[in-house]
Order: sequence, then structure tokens, then C-alpha cells
Amino acid sequence: MTALNSSLNEWAAVAAHAKDMSQSHLRDLTAADPQRWQNFHIENDTWLLDISRQRITAKTLALLFDLARAADLPARIAAMFRGDPINSTEQRAVLHTALRSDFAGPQAVQAEVAATRRQLVDFVAAIRSGQKLGVTGKKFKHVVNIGIGGSDLGPLLVCDALRHEWSGGITPHFVSNVDRMQLEDLVRSIDPAETLVIVCSKTFITQETQANANAARAWIVGALGEKAAAKHFVAVSTNAEAMDAFGIAAEHRFTMWDWVGGRYSVWSAVGLAAELAIGSERFREFLQGASDIDRHFTTAPFERNLPVLMGVLGVWNRTFLQLPTLAVLPYDQRLARLPAYLQQLEMESNGKSVSLAGERVDFATAPVVWGAPGSNAQHSFFQMLHQGTPTAALDFIAPLKGSWGGTEGQDLALQNCLAQSQAFAFGYTAAEAEAGMRKAGAAAADIKRLSAHRVHEGNRPSSLLMYPQTTARSLGGILALYEHSVFVQGTLWGVNSFDQFGVELGKKLAVGIDMRGVKAPQGPGAEGLKALIDYVSKHR
Ligand code: F6P
Repeated sequence: MTALNSSLNEWAAVAAHAKDMSQSHLRDLTAADPQRWQNFHIENDTWLLDISRQRITAKTLALLFDLARAADLPARIAAMFRGDPINSTEQRAVLHTALRSDFAGPQAVQAEVAATRRQLVDFVAAIRSGQKLGVTGKKFKHVVNIGIGGSDLGPLLVCDALRHEWSGGITPHFVSNVDRMQLEDLVRSIDPAETLVIVCSKTFITQETQANANAARAWIVGALGEKAAAKHFVAVSTNAEAMDAFGIAAEHRFTMWDWVGGRYSVWSAVGLAAELAIGSERFREFLQGASDIDRHFTTAPFERNLPVLMGVLGVWNRTFLQLPTLAVLPYDQRLARLPAYLQQLEMESNGKSVSLAGERVDFATAPVVWGAPGSNAQHSFFQMLHQGTPTAALDFIAPLKGSWGGTEGQDLALQNCLAQSQAFAFGYTAAEAEAGMRKAGAAAADIKRLSAHRVHEGNRPSSLLMYPQTTARSLGGILALYEHSVFVQGTLWGVNSFDQFGVELGKKLAVGIDMRGVKAPQGPGAEGLKALIDYVSKHR
């Protein structure tokens, strides 16, 4: 194996081409090719991916595909779906695809997945129908998911995005922050006798989740008695011993596997809160949407392969055009939580600086991923994106119809989405600014003084992903598109997208800090730490 992908000839070819392209503007690229949109968009039954406003030519894509082949992308895709231990630092397979696609993973894995799905479907039906009741005989109306990171963001996004699909009289709630505020707010407004708590934690040792789970247990037991814990608590975890210690009833345990990473786990029992809220039939559609993309990813040629295109463009923008951030801009309130979900997916996966072989990389990897619903963001941070100094790559995401079924509001949203992507790409030149002011009757002196402030450089690259409507199936598709795009990027960068040692250090250090000040801090910065702990106890 080559130590770093940057030593490949194909990498050098992309780098040289990026240099040639560094002065080209989307205005010129678009003027030079009257068929540009035709040439740079992919359309299939569900999706339209428009990449005509990326700073690319046909040669760019050809060179990036060469690089993908040189980085062994086809073989890596096959290895992932087969269940090879491609998470090489932890010697684990990466099989979140087996949770939704019957063509992924060894048969033994598929059998385990099917058994857990049956258990989930039965449990969800029993709760939603009222066959399983709380300790006082009341039907469960509230489900509280206690988890953090991948054990929170996925089910939270699904619940929020499919709010219009909630049924069965179940309202989902989420508690993740260790500072206790979310739980405090919640216990004021819901009846413990109608509340089912899911402790969602792959490891079952995560400090934040443990603290919130213990507090929730005290709340339930305090209100309903010790016997209530077994009926009102459910757990999703790989850690049977810790579930024993917490007192989770055997029939209330849903397993996880070490071949599913937290940020890839919404397809597993981690999605339970969402499945309870929308029902198993809708949840199956969510899995189906992801499976559709798995099939597409494993079969479509690079030129028509949506995650491959998204992935190679991610590398192009971040590494070769050196754009430090990616703004995710859904024109759909339903996807308000998508940027936070993608933040973990992309930044925890590819926020790495050593290669698979353990050598320090000499190029930029994962961008900072951020964003907000486009409609609102236009009135807050878009100013900086249009005229500020740092330049971001942009992902516009827009359904054709609102999830309520109508087009009225969505027409306005789409109108803005299209206008913004034009403005970002083509800008507003000094000549246009001056002409605009002249037409509005501005005095020559004002034009001279003010026109520069109105110039938009443009050349901010963006993709636009469109699909019919935000449904369970299309949401599954969107998440799988990004998952595979992350995998493509990780492969081109030659890093392991499936470990997360970077989050371990802070966790370890937190355990060593005693806020009561009994145990003195140790190690570098101990003096400052002690002073801060003293400050907290003195000023409380
Ligand atoms: O701290 C980050 C992390 O390790 C994520 O990768 C994971 O999704 C999250 O913590 C929660 O972990 P667990 O499900 O084991 O509680």
C-alpha cells in the first residue's frame, strides 16, 4: 500500500489541474459551455443532483475518478459491503449497510439483524397498541431517548424530520446534555406513569448518558416506586453487564454490534424512539430508502453515482480548492437538524490527520460542516458567505413539495434556493453594481463611493440535491447518500473513517477532574486547573 495517497501520480494530476483552474470563474465556465447544466447534472427516478455550479470541468471529474480508482475505491466499497474489517485500527467490520440491505454482510450477520428487527417490531406494536402498559396501567404516551452523539442525533433527526408521520399517540423527547436542563424541563411537563425511557448507549458507560439515566431512574422510581423501573426503562446497548447493573429487564434489551459505529447506528435499535413515534411500517420505509442508495452506490458507474460524485467533489473542494468549510443548507424546515447530524457524520468520521498506515497526512481532510435551514440563514449568516473573506462550499438540499403535501410555501422556498445558488455562483460585478445604481438614479459621486460595497465576487461553489418530498424513504436516502459520500472522501484521503480516538482524550481527562476539589489535579496545567476548581467552589 502506498503510504499516503498524495504520493500517487493521480493525486499530482488533480493538484496540477486545480492550479490551472485556480483563476477560473463560474461565470466564464458557464458562458463557455451552453450545455453546462445538461453536462453536469444527474437525474434518476427520485433524485436530481445539480453540480453545474461547482468549480469543475469535465476534466476535473475525469481526474478525480482516476484518483478514486487509484485509491482502490471499487475494492473498498466491495470490502465494506462484504464485512471485511476495514475499520483497521479497531479490527472491526463496518456493516451499518447490513441493517437495511439484504445484500450486505455475511449471512450470520443478516440473521442477527433480522432477529433484532422482529424483536423491535413486536415491541413497538405492543407499546403503540397499549398491550404493554406502565406500572399503574396507563398507556405510554411519551418516549424519552437518553443518549448522546450517535445515540441521540440520528433518532432526533428522524423524529423531527418526520413529525408529520407521528402516530399511535406517542410523543418522542430527547435528553443528551449532561447539565441536566433538558431532563429538568421535561419532568415538569410529562407524567412519569405515561413515560417510557430508552437508555441508548452502545457502550453503556458514556458519562453524560449514565448521569441522565440515573436521574431519570430516580424520577420514575420516586414517583412510581422501585418496581416501575423494570417496566418503564428500555436499553439499547452492546454492554449486557452494565444493563444488568442498571436493572434493565431482559425483554427490554435491544442489542447493538461492534460493527456499527455510533454515527452510523440510526438504522439499528438506536432508531427505537423514532420507530415508536412513526411506527414500524414507516421505519421500514426509512430503511428501504437507505437500501435504495446502497444498491445505487454499489452498482452505478462513477459518472452517474451520486455518493461518488458528492464524495469526490468534497475532496476537490476541501483539499484541492482549499475551502475550509461546508455549509449544509436545507430548504425544508423538516431538515433543520440535518446539519448537526452531518456534522458528527463527517467530522467524527474524517476529522483525521494520519493515514491508514499511520503516517501524518500532508493535505487537508474533513471540512468544518455547519449550516441551518436556508430560508432563515439567508437573513443571518449568508452575508458572510456572499461577501466575507473565507469561502465555503455549499450544499443546497430541497424537496419539490412541502411535507404537508402542498407547494405554496415550498415554491417560495425553492425560488429563494435557486436565487441564492445563482448569486453565490455568478455574483454581481462592479459594472453591474454601477449600472444598477445609475438606473436607480444615484449620483455619480455616490456610485463611485458605494458601488464596491455592492459587489459580490461569486464563484462560491455549490451542489443542489432535489427530490420529491421529505418522507421516511427519502430521508433514509439522504442520510445514506451522505454516509457513502463520507466513505468516498475517507478513501480518497486514505484515512480510517470509522474510529474516533479524538473524542477519547477529553473523556479520560474529565474523569480525572474532581469538582469538589478533594482529589488534586495532576499533569500539565495542574496549577491552572486547581485555581479554576477553587474559583468555582468560592463563587457558587
Ligand atoms: O464521544 C463520542 C462518542 O463516542 C460517539 O462516537 C458516540 O456516538 C457517542 O459518544 C455515544 O456513545 P455511546 O452510544 O456508547 O453512549
